[in-house]
Amino acid sequence: MSKYEAKWKTVKVEIEDGLAWVILNRPEKRNAMSPTLNTEMCDVLETLELDAEAKVVVLTGAGESWSAGMDLKEYFRESDGKPEIYQERIRRDASTWQWKLLRMYSKPTIAMVNGWCFGGAFSPLVACDLAIASETAVFGLSEINWGIPPGNLVSKAVADTMGHRKALEYIMTGETFTGAQAAEMGLVNKAVPLEDLRAATMVLAKKLAEKNPVILRAAKHGFKRCRELTWEQSEDYLYAKLDQALHRDPEDGRAQGMKQFLDEKSIKPGLQSYKR
Ligand code: COA
Repeated sequence: MSKYEAKWKTVKVEIEDGLAWVILNRPEKRNAMSPTLNTEMCDVLETLELDAEAKVVVLTGAGESWSAGMDLKEYFRESDGKPEIYQERIRRDASTWQWKLLRMYSKPTIAMVNGWCFGGAFSPLVACDLAIASETAVFGLSEINWGIPPGNLVSKAVADTMGHRKALEYIMTGETFTGAQAAEMGLVNKAVPLEDLRAATMVLAKKLAEKNPVILRAAKHGFKRCRELTWEQSEDYLYAKLDQALHRDPEDGRAQGMKQFLDEKSIKPGLQSYKR
C-alpha cells in the first residue's frame, strides 16, 4: 500500500524505486484541473519536495487523458458571480503548482503524456523539465473554439517551446496535433508508442535519479533563469549558481570527478559520469 494512499481526492501518488508517480486522477472528467485539484497539487509538490524517497517526479494522468485543461465547469462557470477575491484565490493556486512550483522544482520532473492534453494543461507540460508523449496523444490549444484566448501562462509556455509560427498556428486555429508532431516541433523530448511510454519514461527517470541531485538542480535552474537574463547577467548568475552548487554539494562531486579522471584515470567524463 502506498504511503500516500487516499491522502488526496483528485491526485494519486505512488513511489517506487526512487520515482514519484503523480497521477492526475479525475479520469471521468479527463483529468480536467478543478480548483480542488489545483489546491491538492500544491500540497502534493510541497510534500514530495521533502520526501527523500522521491528522487524524480513523473506527472501523468489516469485513464486515457493526461489533462483536458482547466475545468470548464468548476474553474470557470461555477466561479462566475462569486466574490472577486475568490477568482484571485483559485487563479493563485492554479499558477502556484502549474508553473511557479513546477518550473523551478528542486527535483527533476518529467511530464509523461499518455493521452489528451488541452489548453491549460500546456502550462504544467512546459513547466516540467522534460516530457515524453505517446505518439498518439492528442494536443490542442482549444481555447479559440470556446470563446477565450489561452489564459494563465499557456501562450508564454508554447512560445518558449513550439516556435513562433507553430505556436500561433495552433493558438489561432485551435486544431489538434499528435504526440509525434509534438516531438517534431520540440514541445516534448520524444514520442513513443503508448505501450512503451511507461518503460521509456522509467529509463529516462532512472538516468536522472542517478545524477548528483544538487548539481542537477543548479544546472536546470541556471538554464531556465538565464533564458530571461542578459548575457552579462547570465554570466554573473551562472557563476554564482556554480559557486553555490559547489558549496552545497555534500558529495564534493567536482573534486571526486577531477580525482577519478586526472589521478586515478578511472573515468572519462565524456563517456560516463564520475562514480558517486
Ligand atoms: N472541463 C470540464 N469538464 C471536462 C473537461 C474540461 N476541460 N474536459 C472533459 N470534461 C468532462 C466532460 O464534460 C464530460 O463530463 P460528463 O461525463 O459529466 O458529461 C467528461 O469529462 C468526459 O468528457 P467527454 O467529452 O465525454 O470525453 P471524450 O473522451 O469524448 O473527449 C476530450 C475528451 C478531451 C476531447 C473532450 O472532453 C474535450 O474536448 N474537452 C475539453 C478540452 C478543452 O477544450 N480544454 C481546454 C480547457 S482550458
